[in-house]
Amino acid sequence: MTEKRLENKVAIITGAANGIGREEAILFAENGAKVVVTDINEEALQKTVEAIRMQGGEAIGIRHDVSVEEDWQEVILKTEAEFGQLDILLNNAAILSRNGLAETTVDEFLKIQSVNSAGTFLGMKYGAALIKKTSGKGSIINTSSGSGLVGTPGSTAYHASKGAVRLMTKSAALELAKDFIRVNSIHPGVIETAMSGGKDGKHFLSEKIPMKCLGKPIDIAYGALYLASDESRFVTGSELIIDGGYTA
Ligand code: NAI
Repeated sequence: MTEKRLENKVAIITGAANGIGREEAILFAENGAKVVVTDINEEALQKTVEAIRMQGGEAIGIRHDVSVEEDWQEVILKTEAEFGQLDILLNNAAILSRNGLAETTVDEFLKIQSVNSAGTFLGMKYGAALIKKTSGKGSIINTSSGSGLVGTPGSTAYHASKGAVRLMTKSAALELAKDFIRVNSIHPGVIETAMSGGKDGKHFLSEKIPMKCLGKPIDIAYGALYLASDESRFVTGSELIIDGGYTA
């Protein structure tokens, strides 16, 4: 790594204990960002913090349920106290359900909206306020999905939440453009993580992907790095699809 693309920037990354969020946090730190990593899984989160510190990066970990407003307020306060500013917010945490219509209860439906869409909404609400107050410009990246673009059978609740993330991104992008805060969504295809059942769990799916393979967390992290950096300074309200052609 020669050039550090996020030098002097501070980033919050949610759901950073595992999978895509962990990879994004490590890549952002490698690129010079000071990172605030958050998750409900404190033990695994600590391993992300240690991995970043081992390679000389700066990170703090905070236990945080993205669906809880008070948790967001605490994350924002601690970020300002520790690093004095916020430039990048990456809303990544989410949960999945593969239950079909008949099996999905209203409670389960609402739980998924609460974590995936309300969690993203709260992040934008509090994150944008701290960016405005401390940095004067910044980038918010919301993690939607291929499931926010096209339907697949089953998991109606998950699709509802990811469709909401896609359109709230565009609305917020228009609202925040005057404040120089860019807001974009990332749409991963099938990526090898616990959520997708890992490499073996979803291997059959690679046949349905035009590139005939699953993606890796780093494939999404590189896209997030572009949207976080000043290289994308004229990009807002856009959708970055990283899926091996799955939704093409
Ligand atoms: P993962 O399940 O490996 O990691 C998700 C992380 O979020 C976990 O560390 C978990 O503890 C955390 N989390 C769950 N609920 C939380 C809450 N209420 N508050 C804070 N943290 C919470 O998932 P993965 O695959 O890394 O997914 C990351 C993002 O990418 C998600 O938004 C997911 O919907 C999206 N995505 C993933 C795809 C895939 O194939 N893996 C495909 C399309 C989108």
